[in-house]
Amino acid sequence: MKNGKKRIGILTAGGDCPGINAAIRGVGKTAIVKYGMEVFGFSSGFLGLINKEYIELTEPHLSGILTLGGTILGTSRVKPFKKDDLSINSKDKPKLIKKHYEELGLDCIVCIGGNGTQKNAMKLSNYGLNVIGIPKTIDNDVWGTDVTFGFDSALGIATDAIDRLHSTANSHSRIMVIEVMGHHAGWLTLYSGLAGGGDVILIPELDYDIKAITDYLEERAKKKKSYSIVVVAEGIKHKSKTKSAAQYIAHQIKKRTGLETRETILGYIQRGGSPTPADRILATRYGAYAAELINNEQYGLMVKKEGDIISSIPLTEVGSKLRTVPVDHPIIKKARGLGICLGNPA
Ligand code: F6P
Repeated sequence: MKNGKKRIGILTAGGDCPGINAAIRGVGKTAIVKYGMEVFGFSSGFLGLINKEYIELTEPHLSGILTLGGTILGTSRVKPFKKDDLSINSKDKPKLIKKHYEELGLDCIVCIGGNGTQKNAMKLSNYGLNVIGIPKTIDNDVWGTDVTFGFDSALGIATDAIDRLHSTANSHSRIMVIEVMGHHAGWLTLYSGLAGGGDVILIPELDYDIKAITDYLEERAKKKKSYSIVVVAEGIKHKSKTKSAAQYIAHQIKKRTGLETRETILGYIQRGGSPTPADRILATRYGAYAAELINNEQYGLMVKKEGDIISSIPLTEVGSKLRTVPVDHPIIKKARGLGICLGNPA
Protein backbone atom coordinates (compact mmCIF):
# COMPACT_ATOMS: atom_id res chain seq x y z
CA MET A 1 0.00 0.00 0.00
CA LYS A 2 1.32 3.46 -0.97
CA ASN A 3 0.53 6.46 1.25
CA GLY A 4 -2.21 4.34 2.70
CA LYS A 5 -3.65 3.83 -0.81
CA LYS A 6 -4.05 0.50 -2.53
CA ARG A 7 -2.63 0.32 -6.06
CA ILE A 8 -4.17 -2.05 -8.56
CA GLY A 9 -3.44 -3.08 -12.14
CA ILE A 10 -5.96 -3.97 -14.87
CA LEU A 11 -5.26 -5.96 -18.03
CA THR A 12 -7.48 -7.24 -20.83
CA ALA A 13 -6.41 -10.44 -22.60
CA GLY A 14 -7.66 -12.83 -25.29
CA GLY A 15 -10.20 -12.01 -28.01
CA ASP A 16 -11.94 -8.70 -27.47
CA CYS A 17 -15.69 -8.25 -27.10
CA PRO A 18 -18.19 -5.47 -26.45
CA GLY A 19 -18.28 -4.43 -22.78
CA ILE A 20 -14.58 -4.60 -21.88
CA ASN A 21 -14.29 -0.83 -21.53
CA ALA A 22 -17.44 -0.80 -19.39
CA ALA A 23 -15.72 -3.34 -17.09
CA ILE A 24 -12.47 -1.31 -16.97
CA ARG A 25 -14.58 1.73 -16.07
CA GLY A 26 -16.52 -0.27 -13.46
CA VAL A 27 -13.35 -1.42 -11.71
CA GLY A 28 -11.49 1.84 -12.13
CA LYS A 29 -14.18 4.29 -11.08
CA THR A 30 -15.20 2.23 -8.05
CA ALA A 31 -11.55 1.78 -7.05
CA ILE A 32 -10.80 5.49 -7.37
CA VAL A 33 -14.06 7.14 -6.30
CA LYS A 34 -15.30 4.75 -3.61
CA TYR A 35 -12.04 3.38 -2.24
CA GLY A 36 -9.40 5.98 -3.09
CA MET A 37 -7.15 3.46 -4.85
CA GLU A 38 -4.63 4.09 -7.63
CA VAL A 39 -5.27 2.26 -10.89
CA PHE A 40 -2.73 1.24 -13.53
CA GLY A 41 -3.82 -0.07 -16.94
CA PHE A 42 -1.43 -2.55 -18.61
CA SER A 43 -1.28 -2.66 -22.38
CA SER A 44 -1.88 -5.70 -24.59
CA GLY A 45 -2.86 -8.29 -22.00
CA PHE A 46 -0.15 -10.13 -20.09
CA LEU A 47 2.42 -8.61 -22.45
CA GLY A 48 2.02 -5.29 -20.63
CA LEU A 49 2.98 -6.96 -17.35
CA ILE A 50 5.92 -8.76 -18.96
CA ASN A 51 7.21 -5.55 -20.58
CA LYS A 52 6.11 -3.20 -17.78
CA GLU A 53 4.03 -1.15 -20.19
CA TYR A 54 1.27 0.70 -18.40
CA ILE A 55 -0.38 4.03 -17.78
CA GLU A 56 -2.02 5.35 -14.67
CA LEU A 57 -5.77 5.43 -15.26
CA THR A 58 -7.33 8.49 -13.66
CA GLU A 59 -10.99 9.51 -13.77
CA PRO A 60 -10.72 11.37 -17.12
CA HIS A 61 -9.34 8.19 -18.77
CA LEU A 62 -12.41 6.34 -17.57
CA SER A 63 -14.92 8.90 -18.83
CA GLY A 64 -16.74 8.35 -22.11
CA ILE A 65 -15.67 4.72 -22.52
CA LEU A 66 -18.83 2.97 -21.29
CA THR A 67 -20.27 2.64 -24.79
CA LEU A 68 -17.00 2.01 -26.66
CA GLY A 69 -16.35 -1.37 -28.27
CA GLY A 70 -12.94 -3.08 -28.06
CA THR A 71 -10.56 -2.30 -25.21
CA ILE A 72 -8.75 0.96 -24.52
CA LEU A 73 -5.87 -1.10 -23.10
CA GLY A 74 -5.39 -3.31 -26.16
CA THR A 75 -5.24 -7.09 -25.93
CA SER A 76 -3.09 -10.05 -26.96
CA ARG A 77 -3.09 -13.80 -26.61
CA VAL A 78 0.39 -13.85 -25.04
CA LYS A 79 0.44 -16.49 -22.29
CA PRO A 80 2.58 -15.72 -19.24
CA PHE A 81 3.58 -19.35 -18.62
CA LYS A 82 3.98 -20.64 -22.17
CA LYS A 83 6.77 -20.67 -24.73
CA ASP A 84 5.77 -18.44 -27.65
CA ASP A 85 7.38 -16.25 -30.24
CA LEU A 86 8.47 -13.60 -27.75
CA SER A 87 12.26 -13.38 -27.45
CA ILE A 88 11.84 -13.80 -23.66
CA ASN A 89 12.46 -17.30 -22.31
CA SER A 90 9.16 -18.80 -21.16
CA LYS A 91 10.61 -19.48 -17.69
CA ASP A 92 11.49 -15.82 -17.30
CA LYS A 93 8.04 -14.44 -18.08
CA PRO A 94 6.44 -15.17 -14.68
CA LYS A 95 9.60 -13.89 -12.96
CA LEU A 96 9.42 -10.65 -14.94
CA ILE A 97 5.75 -10.27 -14.12
CA LYS A 98 6.39 -10.75 -10.41
CA LYS A 99 9.34 -8.35 -10.52
CA HIS A 100 7.27 -5.63 -12.21
CA TYR A 101 4.29 -6.29 -9.92
CA GLU A 102 6.56 -5.76 -6.90
CA GLU A 103 8.50 -2.80 -8.36
CA LEU A 104 5.21 -1.01 -9.06
CA GLY A 105 3.92 -1.82 -5.59
CA LEU A 106 0.74 -3.43 -6.89
CA ASP A 107 -1.72 -4.87 -4.40
CA CYS A 108 -3.68 -6.79 -7.01
CA ILE A 109 -3.97 -7.37 -10.74
CA VAL A 110 -7.43 -7.60 -12.35
CA CYS A 111 -7.46 -9.92 -15.37
CA ILE A 112 -10.40 -9.33 -17.73
CA GLY A 113 -10.69 -12.22 -20.17
CA GLY A 114 -12.13 -15.53 -21.25
CA ASN A 115 -11.14 -19.10 -20.40
CA GLY A 116 -7.46 -18.80 -21.26
CA THR A 117 -7.15 -15.59 -19.27
CA GLN A 118 -8.85 -17.07 -16.19
CA LYS A 119 -6.49 -20.06 -16.39
CA ASN A 120 -3.49 -17.72 -16.50
CA ALA A 121 -5.00 -15.62 -13.71
CA MET A 122 -5.19 -18.81 -11.62
CA LYS A 123 -1.55 -19.62 -12.41
CA LEU A 124 -0.43 -16.11 -11.43
CA SER A 125 -2.43 -16.42 -8.22
CA ASN A 126 -0.72 -19.77 -7.50
CA TYR A 127 2.59 -18.02 -8.25
CA GLY A 128 1.96 -15.67 -5.35
CA LEU A 129 0.31 -12.59 -6.90
CA ASN A 130 -3.00 -11.17 -5.73
CA VAL A 131 -5.35 -11.66 -8.66
CA ILE A 132 -9.03 -11.09 -9.47
CA GLY A 133 -10.57 -12.44 -12.68
CA ILE A 134 -13.48 -10.89 -14.61
CA PRO A 135 -15.09 -13.16 -17.22
CA LYS A 136 -15.72 -11.81 -20.70
CA THR A 137 -16.26 -13.45 -24.08
CA ILE A 138 -18.87 -13.61 -26.79
CA ASP A 139 -18.65 -17.41 -26.51
CA ASN A 140 -20.21 -17.44 -23.00
CA ASP A 141 -18.10 -20.50 -22.19
CA VAL A 142 -16.33 -19.47 -18.97
CA TRP A 143 -16.86 -22.02 -16.25
CA GLY A 144 -18.33 -20.88 -12.94
CA THR A 145 -20.62 -18.08 -14.12
CA ASP A 146 -24.08 -18.07 -15.72
CA VAL A 147 -23.03 -15.46 -18.24
CA THR A 148 -20.09 -13.48 -19.58
CA PHE A 149 -20.43 -9.96 -20.92
CA GLY A 150 -20.00 -9.72 -24.67
CA PHE A 151 -22.42 -12.59 -25.22
CA ASP A 152 -25.58 -10.48 -25.29
CA SER A 153 -24.05 -7.98 -27.72
CA ALA A 154 -22.81 -10.72 -30.06
CA LEU A 155 -26.18 -12.42 -29.82
CA GLY A 156 -27.84 -9.21 -31.00
CA ILE A 157 -25.42 -8.87 -33.92
CA ALA A 158 -25.74 -12.52 -35.01
CA THR A 159 -29.54 -12.43 -34.70
CA ASP A 160 -29.74 -9.24 -36.73
CA ALA A 161 -27.55 -10.86 -39.41
CA ILE A 162 -29.81 -13.95 -39.52
CA ASP A 163 -32.88 -11.68 -39.81
CA ARG A 164 -31.30 -9.93 -42.79
CA LEU A 165 -30.35 -13.23 -44.42
CA HIS A 166 -33.93 -14.41 -43.95
CA SER A 167 -35.35 -11.80 -46.32
CA THR A 168 -32.82 -12.42 -49.07
CA ALA A 169 -33.17 -16.21 -48.64
CA ASN A 170 -36.93 -15.77 -49.05
CA SER A 171 -36.63 -13.58 -52.18
CA HIS A 172 -34.35 -16.08 -53.92
CA SER A 173 -35.81 -19.30 -52.50
CA ARG A 174 -32.38 -20.31 -51.26
CA ILE A 175 -30.85 -22.20 -48.41
CA MET A 176 -28.71 -19.82 -46.35
CA VAL A 177 -25.95 -21.31 -44.22
CA ILE A 178 -24.67 -18.88 -41.58
CA GLU A 179 -21.48 -19.51 -39.60
CA VAL A 180 -21.41 -18.16 -36.06
CA MET A 181 -18.32 -17.97 -33.81
CA GLY A 182 -17.62 -20.62 -31.17
CA HIS A 183 -14.90 -23.23 -31.52
CA HIS A 184 -15.90 -25.43 -28.60
CA ALA A 185 -19.14 -24.00 -27.22
CA GLY A 186 -22.37 -23.55 -29.16
CA TRP A 187 -24.12 -20.99 -26.92
CA LEU A 188 -24.00 -18.17 -29.46
CA THR A 189 -25.10 -20.42 -32.32
CA LEU A 190 -27.91 -22.02 -30.32
CA TYR A 191 -29.27 -18.71 -29.00
CA SER A 192 -28.94 -16.74 -32.25
CA GLY A 193 -30.28 -19.72 -34.20
CA LEU A 194 -33.33 -19.81 -32.00
CA ALA A 195 -33.77 -16.02 -31.89
CA GLY A 196 -33.31 -15.78 -35.66
CA GLY A 197 -35.75 -18.57 -36.46
CA GLY A 198 -33.14 -21.01 -37.79
CA ASP A 199 -34.51 -24.23 -39.31
CA VAL A 200 -31.29 -26.17 -38.74
CA ILE A 201 -28.90 -25.38 -35.85
CA LEU A 202 -25.56 -27.19 -35.54
CA ILE A 203 -23.37 -26.82 -32.45
CA PRO A 204 -20.03 -28.44 -31.55
CA GLU A 205 -21.54 -30.31 -28.60
CA LEU A 206 -23.99 -32.32 -30.74
CA ASP A 207 -22.96 -34.82 -33.43
CA TYR A 208 -24.78 -34.46 -36.72
CA ASP A 209 -25.65 -36.68 -39.62
CA ILE A 210 -25.44 -34.80 -42.91
CA LYS A 211 -28.07 -37.08 -44.48
CA ALA A 212 -30.53 -36.27 -41.67
CA ILE A 213 -29.98 -32.57 -42.43
CA THR A 214 -30.40 -32.87 -46.20
CA ASP A 215 -33.48 -35.12 -45.77
CA TYR A 216 -34.94 -32.47 -43.47
CA LEU A 217 -34.26 -29.67 -45.98
CA GLU A 218 -35.68 -31.68 -48.87
CA GLU A 219 -38.77 -32.44 -46.81
CA ARG A 220 -39.20 -28.69 -46.16
CA ALA A 221 -38.79 -27.97 -49.87
CA LYS A 222 -41.48 -30.58 -50.65
CA LYS A 223 -43.80 -28.80 -48.20
CA LYS A 224 -43.32 -25.65 -50.29
CA LYS A 225 -41.09 -23.94 -47.76
CA SER A 226 -39.17 -22.13 -50.43
CA TYR A 227 -36.16 -21.27 -48.26
CA SER A 228 -34.34 -22.51 -45.17
CA ILE A 229 -31.96 -21.02 -42.64
CA VAL A 230 -29.08 -23.19 -41.39
CA VAL A 231 -27.08 -21.77 -38.46
CA VAL A 232 -23.72 -23.46 -37.91
CA ALA A 233 -21.08 -23.01 -35.20
CA GLU A 234 -17.56 -22.56 -36.57
CA GLY A 235 -16.36 -25.41 -34.34
CA ILE A 236 -18.55 -28.29 -35.57
CA LYS A 237 -16.57 -31.34 -36.63
CA HIS A 238 -16.29 -31.86 -40.39
CA LYS A 239 -14.08 -33.63 -42.86
CA SER A 240 -12.74 -30.76 -44.98
CA LYS A 241 -9.28 -29.37 -44.28
CA THR A 242 -9.77 -26.35 -46.53
CA LYS A 243 -13.39 -25.34 -46.03
CA SER A 244 -14.90 -23.54 -43.04
CA ALA A 245 -17.83 -25.17 -41.25
CA ALA A 246 -20.41 -23.16 -43.25
CA GLN A 247 -18.63 -23.80 -46.55
CA TYR A 248 -18.51 -27.51 -45.83
CA ILE A 249 -22.19 -27.77 -44.85
CA ALA A 250 -23.30 -25.58 -47.79
CA HIS A 251 -21.23 -27.72 -50.20
CA GLN A 252 -22.78 -30.93 -48.85
CA ILE A 253 -26.31 -29.50 -49.13
CA LYS A 254 -25.73 -28.38 -52.74
CA LYS A 255 -24.12 -31.68 -53.73
CA ARG A 256 -26.75 -33.90 -52.10
CA THR A 257 -29.97 -31.96 -52.78
CA GLY A 258 -29.28 -29.68 -55.73
CA LEU A 259 -31.06 -26.90 -53.79
CA GLU A 260 -29.60 -23.45 -54.36
CA THR A 261 -27.43 -22.75 -51.32
CA ARG A 262 -25.25 -19.84 -50.15
CA GLU A 263 -23.01 -19.44 -47.12
CA THR A 264 -22.14 -16.42 -44.97
CA ILE A 265 -19.38 -16.33 -42.37
CA LEU A 266 -20.21 -13.65 -39.79
CA GLY A 267 -16.65 -13.52 -38.40
CA TYR A 268 -15.28 -10.62 -36.39
CA ILE A 269 -18.36 -8.43 -36.90
CA GLN A 270 -19.72 -10.44 -33.96
CA ARG A 271 -17.00 -9.06 -31.68
CA GLY A 272 -17.15 -5.42 -32.68
CA GLY A 273 -19.03 -2.29 -31.77
CA SER A 274 -20.88 -0.89 -28.81
CA PRO A 275 -22.12 -3.19 -26.02
CA THR A 276 -25.85 -3.70 -25.47
CA PRO A 277 -27.41 -2.15 -22.35
CA ALA A 278 -27.45 -5.63 -20.71
CA ASP A 279 -23.70 -6.05 -21.33
CA ARG A 280 -22.95 -2.53 -20.10
CA ILE A 281 -24.78 -3.28 -16.87
CA LEU A 282 -23.20 -6.73 -16.41
CA ALA A 283 -19.68 -5.45 -17.12
CA THR A 284 -20.20 -2.50 -14.77
CA ARG A 285 -21.48 -4.78 -11.99
CA TYR A 286 -18.58 -7.20 -12.48
CA GLY A 287 -16.07 -4.36 -12.42
CA ALA A 288 -17.54 -2.69 -9.34
CA TYR A 289 -17.67 -6.02 -7.51
CA ALA A 290 -14.03 -6.74 -8.38
CA ALA A 291 -13.04 -3.44 -6.75
CA GLU A 292 -15.05 -4.38 -3.64
CA LEU A 293 -13.24 -7.72 -3.38
CA ILE A 294 -9.89 -5.95 -3.60
CA ASN A 295 -10.93 -3.46 -0.94
CA ASN A 296 -11.80 -6.44 1.30
CA GLU A 297 -8.44 -8.05 0.41
CA GLN A 298 -10.18 -11.10 -1.00
CA TYR A 299 -8.02 -12.47 -3.80
CA GLY A 300 -7.59 -15.53 -6.04
CA LEU A 301 -11.21 -15.17 -7.16
CA MET A 302 -13.21 -14.66 -10.34
CA VAL A 303 -16.39 -12.59 -10.20
CA LYS A 304 -19.47 -14.44 -11.37
CA LYS A 305 -23.22 -14.12 -11.86
CA GLU A 306 -25.65 -16.70 -10.57
CA GLY A 307 -29.30 -15.83 -11.08
CA ASP A 308 -29.23 -12.08 -10.53
CA ILE A 309 -26.58 -12.23 -7.80
CA ILE A 310 -23.00 -11.12 -8.45
CA SER A 311 -20.53 -12.99 -6.26
CA SER A 312 -17.21 -14.79 -6.72
CA ILE A 313 -15.69 -18.22 -7.18
CA PRO A 314 -12.09 -19.36 -6.52
CA LEU A 315 -9.96 -19.19 -9.66
CA THR A 316 -8.77 -22.72 -8.85
CA GLU A 317 -12.31 -23.95 -9.54
CA VAL A 318 -12.51 -22.09 -12.85
CA GLY A 319 -9.10 -22.44 -14.50
CA SER A 320 -8.80 -25.11 -17.25
CA LYS A 321 -12.55 -25.78 -17.43
CA LEU A 322 -14.90 -24.96 -20.28
CA ARG A 323 -18.63 -24.32 -19.99
CA THR A 324 -20.17 -25.99 -23.02
CA VAL A 325 -23.87 -26.49 -23.85
CA PRO A 326 -25.21 -29.58 -22.02
CA VAL A 327 -26.65 -31.95 -24.65
CA ASP A 328 -29.88 -32.13 -22.64
CA HIS A 329 -30.15 -28.35 -22.15
CA PRO A 330 -33.82 -27.27 -21.92
CA ILE A 331 -33.43 -25.01 -24.97
CA ILE A 332 -32.25 -27.97 -27.06
CA LYS A 333 -35.31 -29.93 -26.00
CA LYS A 334 -37.63 -27.00 -26.75
CA ALA A 335 -35.99 -26.45 -30.16
CA ARG A 336 -36.53 -30.10 -31.10
CA GLY A 337 -40.14 -29.77 -29.96
CA LEU A 338 -40.57 -26.88 -32.39
CA GLY A 339 -39.38 -29.05 -35.26
CA ILE A 340 -35.94 -27.42 -35.54
CA CYS A 341 -33.29 -29.84 -36.84
CA LEU A 342 -30.27 -30.07 -34.52
CA GLY A 343 -28.35 -32.38 -36.82
CA ASN A 344 -29.90 -35.71 -36.02
CA PRO A 345 -33.26 -37.08 -34.91
CA ALA A 346 -32.17 -37.80 -31.29
O1 F6P B 1 -13.48 -14.44 -28.46
C1 F6P B 1 -13.74 -15.80 -28.71
C2 F6P B 1 -13.59 -16.05 -30.17
O2 F6P B 1 -14.39 -15.08 -30.76
C3 F6P B 1 -13.97 -17.41 -30.71
O3 F6P B 1 -15.32 -17.65 -30.89
C4 F6P B 1 -13.20 -17.41 -31.99
O4 F6P B 1 -13.03 -18.67 -32.51
C5 F6P B 1 -11.92 -16.80 -31.57
O5 F6P B 1 -12.26 -15.86 -30.57
C6 F6P B 1 -11.11 -16.22 -32.67
O6 F6P B 1 -10.37 -15.13 -32.28
P1 F6P B 1 -8.91 -14.71 -32.81
O7 F6P B 1 -8.90 -14.92 -34.28
O8 F6P B 1 -8.83 -13.30 -32.39
O9 F6P B 1 -7.93 -15.60 -32.12
